[in-house]
Amino acid sequence: MRGHQPVPVITVDGPSGAGKGTLSHLLADALGWHFLDSGALYRVTGYACVLEGVAWDDHPSVVRVARHLEVAFTADSAGEVCVAYKGLDVSRDIRTEQGARGASTVAVIPAVRQALLQRQREFRQLPGLVADGRDMGTEVFPDATLKIFLTASAQERAQRRYLQLLEKGENVSLARLLEDIEERDARDSSRTVSPLIPAEDAMVIDSSRLPISDVFSAVMKAARERGLA
Ligand code: C5P
Repeated sequence: MRGHQPVPVITVDGPSGAGKGTLSHLLADALGWHFLDSGALYRVTGYACVLEGVAWDDHPSVVRVARHLEVAFTADSAGEVCVAYKGLDVSRDIRTEQGARGASTVAVIPAVRQALLQRQREFRQLPGLVADGRDMGTEVFPDATLKIFLTASAQERAQRRYLQLLEKGENVSLARLLEDIEERDARDSSRTVSPLIPAEDAMVIDSSRLPISDVFSAVMKAARERGLA
C-alpha cells in the first residue's frame, strides 16, 4: 500500500445510446474532474486502420496500429472535444456508423485492449476522473470509488439515435438502427475479453423511462454519500 489516497474515479459503463456520454459529461462538469471517452480510443483505432490501409481482420497489423496510436484530445473554444489522429481532425469520421462498426470490431482483439489499457489509465489525474466505456469498472479501474452501469432498452436507444441523426440531417431507417444496435450489443456482451457486463459492485440504472436529469441527481447523491462531492 502506498501512503496516499488514489485519485478518485467514477466509472460509467453500459451499452451505446443509454446516455453514458451525457451523464459522464454532466458529472465531470459538476465535479470539475477529467473525462475519459474510452470508446473514442477504440473508434480512432478502427478509423486509423482505414486510413493506414489495414483490414480490421488483419489482427497483427491492427494491434500495431493500436500500440502506436498517435491520438490527441483537445477542447476547442466552445468546449467541444476534438479528436486528432496524427494531427488530422477525425472527430466527425469516428462518430459515423462505420466508425462504430470499426471500434466494436477491433475491440474484440485482446492485444488491442491490452495496448489501450495503459493509455486509459493515464487519464487518472487529480482531482478525479469520470471514465465512460464498457469495461471501466470491471477491467480498467476496478478500484473506482463509484461504478455506474447505465442501460436502456434497445428500442429506446435506437429511437434516441434516430432522433439525433435526424437532427443532424441524416436520413436513416429506425429498423436498420435497431438491427445495428442489437448486433453491436451481441458482439460487445458475448466477446470473451472484457464483455459488457456490470461490475459486481456497480449501481445499475435503467434510463429507458428516466430523464437524464433524474439519472444525474441519483448519481450525484451516490457520489456525495461516498464523499466525492
Ligand atoms: O462508446 P462508443 O459507442 O464510442 O464505443 C464504440 C465501441 O467501442 C463499442 O461498441 C465497443 O465495442 C467498443 N468499446 C469497448 N470498450 C470500451 C469502450 C468502447 O470495447 N471501454
